[in-house]
Amino acid sequence: MAKLTEIGWEEFSALPLEAKRGYLTRAEGDGMPYHTLFAQQFDRELLERLCALANRIRFINKSKEGALYLKTVLAHRRAMLYFSQPSSRTFLSHLAACQILGITTGSVRDAATSSEFKGETKEDSIRTFSSYFDMIIMRSPEQGLAEKMAWELSNSDRPVPILNAGSGKDQHPTQALLDIYTLMRSFETKGGIDGRTVVFCGDLLRGRTVRSLSYLLTNFRDVRQVFVAPQELHVPEDVVETLKSKGVDYALVGDLREAVKEADAVYMTRIQDEWDSSKGASARIDTSRFKFGAEELALLKPDGVILHPLPRRDEIATCCDHDPRAMYWRQMRNGMWIRAALIAATFGHERAIMDCGY
Ligand code: CP
Repeated sequence: MAKLTEIGWEEFSALPLEAKRGYLTRAEGDGMPYHTLFAQQFDRELLERLCALANRIRFINKSKEGALYLKTVLAHRRAMLYFSQPSSRTFLSHLAACQILGITTGSVRDAATSSEFKGETKEDSIRTFSSYFDMIIMRSPEQGLAEKMAWELSNSDRPVPILNAGSGKDQHPTQALLDIYTLMRSFETKGGIDGRTVVFCGDLLRGRTVRSLSYLLTNFRDVRQVFVAPQELHVPEDVVETLKSKGVDYALVGDLREAVKEADAVYMTRIQDEWDSSKGASARIDTSRFKFGAEELALLKPDGVILHPLPRRDEIATCCDHDPRAMYWRQMRNGMWIRAALIAATFGHERAIMDCGY
């Protein structure tokens, strides 16, 4: 089994993402991730195991006895939530996931309140967290920082797992896991995800959830991916290259309504103007045709679904919120269950939870 202690940082960082996977899995050989950094670590078997574990945790947690059992599973562990970018859902759902499993947590949500304010590097800050905690759940505007820290910590005298809760414009693997979990549940009694058409719409250039989810969908058979965006914000070349290399049926288009007609799932995203190179640059792009409202809802198949990683602005009209096909609220709660599953699996508790008597 490949180990991060046996490869230098330069050599490791230059590997293709799929080749890095083997270095990031648990040493115990169950195939689950130790560090979770990007979507390329998950194949279909792993996705199905994690979704089954999330379902199991969700079920066990329904009874008081079951919930109290879950609280004992990782009561001896501590997790650090280090979020140097704003977050509501990812922070709170990881926090709630830790609470379900009995994990004690600490947090830094603003680097100005930590010794980074005094000039400490992020690397030293994260190394400091590893002295006190058994897992670091981190969000950073810096692409690649989670990966660098995973290598650093694995090569330190106190290795702890890193869970990437959003890195730059690059990846958001746990969001993609909850998106897949939501799609699996949405189509559970209707033949599953295979053969579906998923339409992505909005700021596809800078939406890290799109890159991660687009990859995870390649694990399923005959899933067509349709990307709808203003020309300036269309899906980046690396995503297209991945789809080409995997023989995935895809299209880049500009007409949301036409795309909605063929969609089984529509994945809306907001304009990510926090990444604008100059103030107000996104506001000059005409995004008016990339919003989902009553007219788009009328075109959606009766068993189609609408997803959004949230937060939203005006790209989904509130008139859609009570339609049974609007999955974005359930998506948020699904995030808590799948993150609880991932954390439990990271610490090697998949089998114990699946086989417990509750
Ligand atoms: N989807 C998502 O990452 O939401 P937050 O930014 O609120 O965590």
